[in-house]
Amino acid sequence: MKEEKEIFERVFDDYTMKTLVVLRRKKKFDSLEFPISTGKEADVYRASASFDEKESYVAVKIYRIETSNFKAMQDYLIGDPRFEHVKKTKRGVISAWCQKEYRNLSDALKAGVRAPKPIASMNNVLIMEFIGEEGNPAPMLKNVEVEDAEKLIKTLTGYVKKLWKSGLVHGDLSEFNVLMKRGNPFLIDWAQAMSTKHPIALELLQRDLKNIKRIARKRGVDFDYEEVLSSIVRR
Ligand SMILES: Nc1ncnc2c1ncn2[C@@H]1O[C@H](COP(=O)(O)OP(=O)(O)OP(=O)(O)O)[C@@H](O)[C@H]1O
Ligand SMILES: [Mg+2]
Repeated sequence: MKEEKEIFERVFDDYTMKTLVVLRRKKKFDSLEFPISTGKEADVYRASASFDEKESYVAVKIYRIETSNFKAMQDYLIGDPRFEHVKKTKRGVISAWCQKEYRNLSDALKAGVRAPKPIASMNNVLIMEFIGEEGNPAPMLKNVEVEDAEKLIKTLTGYVKKLWKSGLVHGDLSEFNVLMKRGNPFLIDWAQAMSTKHPIALELLQRDLKNIKRIARKRGVDFDYEEVLSSIVRR
C-alpha cells in the first residue's frame, strides 16, 4: 500500500529493503524486532532467527547510505589489497565497508579474540551473532562496573597482541566498542580494522593502546603504555 510504503520509506530505503528481503529468503534472519542502537553511520537491530535451532537471535547492522562518511571509508579501503577493486560509487564503497567488517570479524575470531560471529554480509547489511543474555543486548563496557578490572585490562591487551600477531589492528577500540557478557569482553565495530601492513597501522595500534590506558586509569589499574607498545612492535 502506498501509505505503508511512505511510512517505511523514512526507515529503510528501497535498496536496503530489497537487501533485507534477499537475506531473509536466504534464512539469515526471521524478522527485525527492535533497534538496539541507532547511530550516524549505522543502526543495529535485534532480529529473531528461528531457522537456526541453536540461536534464537541475531544482530543486524544496517549502514546508512545517506549519512555515512563514505569519504573516510574510502580512505580506509585504499591500501587494503583485499578491497582494491571497489567501485567508487557510494553504494560500492559501503558494500565493501560492510564486507570488510565481515572479513575482519572472521579473522579476529581466528586470532582468538572474542567478537560476534559473522553470519552474512550483503550490500549495506551485516548479520552477526547477537551478543547478549536471554535476549537482552550485552551492555557496553562504558556502562558496566567491572569486578576484576586488572583481568579486564590484561584481556584487552592480550586481544591487541593476538590481533597484531595475526596481522590485524582494530583501530577503534574504546569503551563503546567493547560489550560485556558474563564478565567477558567482546570486541565489536570492526569495519575500520586494518592489516598491520597498512601505512597507518602503527598509528591505529597506538590509538588502541592509548584507549586501553584510558580505560585502565579510569578503573584504577596500572598500564605501562610504552612497555606494552614496544613488546608488541618488537616482535
Ligand atoms: N553483535 C551484537 N550484539 C549485540 N549488540 C550489538 C552487536 N553489535 C552491535 N551492537 C550494539 O549496537 C551498537 C552499535 O554497534 P557498532 O559499534 O558496531 O556500530 P557503530 O559503527 O558504532 O555505529 P555508529 O558509528 O553509527 O554509532 C553497539 O554499541 C552495541 O550496543
Ligand atoms: Mg561503535
